[in-house]
Amino acid sequence: MTLPKTELHVHIEGTLEPELAFALAGRNRVDLPFPDVDALRAAYDFDDLQSFLDLYYATMAVLLTERDFTDLTVAYLERAAGQGLAHAEVFFDPQAHTSRGVDLAAVIDGISAGLEIGRERWGVSSALILCFLRNLPAESAMQTLEQAMSIRADAIDGVGLDSSEVGFPPSLFDAVFARAAQLGLRKVAHAGEEAPPAYILEALDVLGVERIDHGVQAVVDPALLSRLADERTPLTVCPLSNVRLRVVDDLAQHPLRAFLEAGVLVTVNSDDPAYFGGYVGDNYVAVRDALALTDAQLAHLARNGVEASWATAERKAELHAAIDAWESDGRPA
Ligand code: HPA
Ligand code: ZN
Repeated sequence: MTLPKTELHVHIEGTLEPELAFALAGRNRVDLPFPDVDALRAAYDFDDLQSFLDLYYATMAVLLTERDFTDLTVAYLERAAGQGLAHAEVFFDPQAHTSRGVDLAAVIDGISAGLEIGRERWGVSSALILCFLRNLPAESAMQTLEQAMSIRADAIDGVGLDSSEVGFPPSLFDAVFARAAQLGLRKVAHAGEEAPPAYILEALDVLGVERIDHGVQAVVDPALLSRLADERTPLTVCPLSNVRLRVVDDLAQHPLRAFLEAGVLVTVNSDDPAYFGGYVGDNYVAVRDALALTDAQLAHLARNGVEASWATAERKAELHAAIDAWESDGRPA
């Protein structure tokens, strides 16, 4: 048995492997700006967040129908379940699809159907998080929220905030997050990936989020670290993403160890696994090797994921028991 894992930071569009992108391009008669899979994969050499986002949005052009979104979701769950994934809270970027004329109902229904297949086939419990693109106006976010909730309120568990970070502080989305809370949704936000700790503080104090996605820049602010630890605010850290987007120089320098030592409720996740060289299990193995983590520390990270998740109390108990069993057996990551 591999270590049972949660994944709380994965963009479903970032699980689009080049092979599936070309298969969907053929099925939908869409042209990709690359001749083949190898050429597309060769373009995965990023300087920063924006250089990644440019390619991420361009490749999404192949996602058009409900079936495409189901296929994408099932492909992700199959690969991640093979690495021990037991519970996934999945982001999607509705504005990246509606801006291309794709029907929002097809997006939500397609992903939801894929998550249901994941529950049936691999026993992966899940939640769905609607993310707003922070480089677009707050009015567009508000409109997207209202539209999504009128279509499938039952399918949406929470809201998030992603895309280009620097210059787009969380407070711009104050009213949108207040409305989300009024609608009964949970709240998370990307903060402190490339931008300074002030963005993390705004996400906490202005938007009232319960988890910070990334949050790695908190490492330079000892007062913030002790606050995060005291309040048990989860950070959804994505180690391979941080290396590929040059947020950290190399994994051996990753602040994950500092977060563990400060008692922060840190979790390990994949972000955009098709682009960053690995799924959730690959991220666990990479930090184990680079930071010389013990099995006990890996189990601790997995337990943090369970605590930070939105799984039901019953499901959390099941996951904790599975992690305990893994640890007492001393099995592979
Ligand atoms: N940061 C911000 N936006 C994103 C990311 C990320 O790492 N991945 C997909 N959208
Ligand atoms: Zn992300």
